[in-house]
Amino acid sequence: MSASGKCSKMRPRFEMLKSMSYQNSIDVTNNEMIQEACERLVLSDQQLRRIMVLMEKSMEQGLSGKKAAVKMLPTYVDAVPNGTEKGDFLALDLGGTNFRVLHIKLEGKETKMTGKIFRVPESIMRGTGEALFDHIADCMAKFMEENNLKDATKLPLGFTFSFPCEQDGLTRGKLVTWTKGFKASGVEGADVVTLLRDACHRRKDIDIDVVALLNDTVGTLMACAFQENTCQIGVIVGTGTNACYMERLDRIPKLAGYVDEHNVTPEEMIINTEWGAFGDDGALSFLRTKWDDAVDRESINPGQHLYEKMISGMYMGECARVVLEDLAKQGLLFGGHSDAISTPHCFPTKFVSEIDSDLLEDDDRTFQKTYQILEDIGVEMITANDCANVAYVCSLISTRAAHLTAAGIAMLLNRINKKHVTVGVDGSVYRFHPTYPTLLDAKIAELIVGDIEYKLMLSEDGSGRGAALVAAVATRLKEEKLAAAATASER
Ligand code: GLC
Repeated sequence: MSASGKCSKMRPRFEMLKSMSYQNSIDVTNNEMIQEACERLVLSDQQLRRIMVLMEKSMEQGLSGKKAAVKMLPTYVDAVPNGTEKGDFLALDLGGTNFRVLHIKLEGKETKMTGKIFRVPESIMRGTGEALFDHIADCMAKFMEENNLKDATKLPLGFTFSFPCEQDGLTRGKLVTWTKGFKASGVEGADVVTLLRDACHRRKDIDIDVVALLNDTVGTLMACAFQENTCQIGVIVGTGTNACYMERLDRIPKLAGYVDEHNVTPEEMIINTEWGAFGDDGALSFLRTKWDDAVDRESINPGQHLYEKMISGMYMGECARVVLEDLAKQGLLFGGHSDAISTPHCFPTKFVSEIDSDLLEDDDRTFQKTYQILEDIGVEMITANDCANVAYVCSLISTRAAHLTAAGIAMLLNRINKKHVTVGVDGSVYRFHPTYPTLLDAKIAELIVGDIEYKLMLSEDGSGRGAALVAAVATRLKEEKLAAAATASER
């Protein structure tokens, strides 16, 4: 598949909306003014290619160890599962508003999982680090109690901690900065495994053996690699967005001279890119809009994770809302009444998904869901034309998100440059948005070069199963290396 090289400015579904407006004999001028006002939300292939170049440059800076927006964090995961992994594991998964504890049994290609989901209240997300880790330990203790695991010998534990961590080994990592609305004090700069262990010691009734600390993207890659050994990239498009990929060690200058605890230099290592922070150095200024600025300004971490704020589920709805608010204020929507749509966060990302589904209904487009949503928010004076225009704005925002992600994935595919590559993908936006996966796939196909063949694969619970797999691979490799050392010393 080769890139078309054309600078095509796609206007998603506008023609369709226009025809609907005609059918309902509605003023098309309004629609055209909205289209013009939103023009910057439509990205051309040329702009996407520029993003690819800039992102790779930022990644190379990150790999070299220089100060860079895209951190390119080594994960110390240097092997993917070979299918023989087995045993009993615990997995902890913290990365959003929910926290999960899982007990996983790996047996050949079979996985058995029992788990429990706990909520992380906002007061804990933004309280003290000690309270956060006490809450985690508390949830673990409850789970172990309920599943008769308290007296079991210490099970190897994989800790999926889906925030940027500067690791210097598989079982240690300092939080670089909180993302996705977390702000617990005293954690940035600290080793999160130590914080977890300390919390367990404080309560004295549980003991843990953390054998792996990992990012959710790494879990996603590993869970897919278990099914499909061509998997080289793991991507999350959920509350946040991020990617990891298998990089050759000779292309990671900041790891020059690295040997593992057995004195071996691996050929490759998974790099957690933390691409959400792409653009934090201004690289995305050429296409960010005043609406992106507004979303960023009102967020808990202004100036940080700008690429993520144009893509992921935590921000997509808010991004659509600020555009709608602006259009209403300009008198182009809701008869100029902007009060209801001006309430921050009143338009979550699931509304974008639901409204985009309205657009998929082929005949007799009535925009029922769109109407209902707007009414529930409290918007008065909603016309059929307003519904069509709100749907138009939503489709622009979700299409832009899919195309921005496609630029990132296509860049990684071009960089890896292998004939067959599987990309493991997970996250609520990828799973639940009606058109996002198709838009993503189509744009990647246009942006890759040469004869690369790729496939996107939905990763089944990377954060849970993936964590057990990383723990299992680590345990297997350790045993293999110890066995090899013993044989060598016998000789
Ligand atoms: C945020 C985090 C990153 C995580 C991603 C998806 O971008 O910084 O570590 O992988 O969200 O959950």
